[in-house]
Amino acid sequence: MENSDSILGTSEDSENSENINLELEQIAEEIKKCKKCDLWKTKTNYVPGEGSSYSGIVFVGEAPGREEDIQGRPFVGNAGKLLTELIEDKLGLRREQVFIGNVLKCRPPNNRDPLPEEIEACKPYLIRQLKVLKPSIIVCLGRHSASLLFNEFGLPFSGITRVRGKPFEVKADWGKIKLIAVYHPAAALYRPPLKETLEKDFSKLREFIKIKPKIQKEKGRNSTRTLTKTLNKTLKDYFSEI
Ligand code: URA
Ligand code: SF4
Repeated sequence: MENSDSILGTSEDSENSENINLELEQIAEEIKKCKKCDLWKTKTNYVPGEGSSYSGIVFVGEAPGREEDIQGRPFVGNAGKLLTELIEDKLGLRREQVFIGNVLKCRPPNNRDPLPEEIEACKPYLIRQLKVLKPSIIVCLGRHSASLLFNEFGLPFSGITRVRGKPFEVKADWGKIKLIAVYHPAAALYRPPLKETLEKDFSKLREFIKIKPKIQKEKGRNSTRTLTKTLNKTLKDYFSEI
């Protein structure tokens, strides 16, 4: 089913999104018990990720930072503020309408780069999250996320500067999807030229979003409700007359 169909509000859809949430919750519960690499020892909180499959977009960052580690939520520090602004201003979406996750679910001490063995140990959680969410667009935030996901989908990764801003069509278990890498918002925070490029790349993302404007959904619902009301009224009139 096209994503554009999935927000028309049928009961089947809401059942489906309930199932997705349950499955994501189950993965999060497993993450919260994980000891597969040493990072669990130094973290404060696990950060499994959050959001929904509503827009068909998933953002994948690198690893929790200080603020994320304290709150147990992804992208809630300064980089998170920028990411949230870009989602709202450039994509016209709310944060809750996308899913935001990370390659690592525990903070590396002093925000050091993830080690290859940590990425390998944590990767299955991200892959499972993606299989549940079935996004039509995956946005890799920064080189660690891009390198992992390009590799996972069989694309050569020649560096973030070379691949950023270009959508690559790849085959996922749930169909053809777009994989796109952008600069990490944290890198863009202190480097104005990178920030400009990041903003441009986000503006390009907008054209790949397939969801229908919300107004259509509400209109559709109202007219269904009105029609049901009218039918009930007609039946009542009919029965009161006989
Ligand atoms: N940077 C990331 O890569 N992920 C977060 O969750 C926060 C900052
Ligand atoms: Fe487990 Fe990932 Fe945390 Fe390592 S970073 S302990 S693999 S959840």
